[in-house]
Amino acid sequence: MRRKVIAGNWKMNLTPAEAKVLVGDLAGKIAGNPACDVVVCVPFVDIATVVEATAGTCIKVGAQNMHQAEKGAFTGEISAPMLVACGVEYVVIGHSERRQYFSETDETVNAKVKSALAAGLKVILCVGETLAERETGVTEETVSRQVKLGLVGVTEAQLANVIIAYEPVWAIGTGVTASDEQAEETCAFTRGVIAEVYSAAAADAIVIQYGGSMNAANAAGLLSMGNIDGGLVGGASLKADDFATIVTAAG
Ligand code: PGA
Repeated sequence: MRRKVIAGNWKMNLTPAEAKVLVGDLAGKIAGNPACDVVVCVPFVDIATVVEATAGTCIKVGAQNMHQAEKGAFTGEISAPMLVACGVEYVVIGHSERRQYFSETDETVNAKVKSALAAGLKVILCVGETLAERETGVTEETVSRQVKLGLVGVTEAQLANVIIAYEPVWAIGTGVTASDEQAEETCAFTRGVIAEVYSAAAADAIVIQYGGSMNAANAAGLLSMGNIDGGLVGGASLKADDFATIVTAAG
């Protein structure tokens, strides 16, 4: 049985003071032992505050990006060892917004994945097709390419620290969610890619999340599907009530 993982992706929202309020509320609402892992992926400047505010709770902290080099002359960047030193356990890599607005490619995504894993972080590797790719019928080719190239050089042992988030780009921040069946179909396909590249056991073990307008109303349906092991939640993760409802739906 795979344990589900619900991860919030705050994107570029919330100051440290606002972040402290949100995680405080959230911790109160999901106190006890949720049946899933709960992660909040926060802006770099919120990390210290959120790590402190979540100490002793079930909420784990993630970052939303990192640089692939360990250190050096990369003005404005943050490395995996720096994140680890700040108490971060997870990092989102290859989010479609990074690919779209910051020119990230499958090659840079792969370099970041390897650097994160080498530093001991757990990776949430994002993949997903654009609307044009879905309409052209190349959803599977796109996801297969992103998974395979994103994981080049990652061993089967390291894969235990990788979560794949299937996020159709057309569903992100649009209010349009993939239907339960559409999401399930591509998550099942993604699992098949892992079986092809690694093994049936690796495919069976890997956590595959759905992301894209997941909310308090649609989470239960999506999370009831056999190949959807959690969610990467944007907008709804900024509201403690809604995020707590999604966490409960994963139980
Ligand atoms: P959304 O974002 O839930 O606001 O659609 C999801 C994501 O980008 O991870």
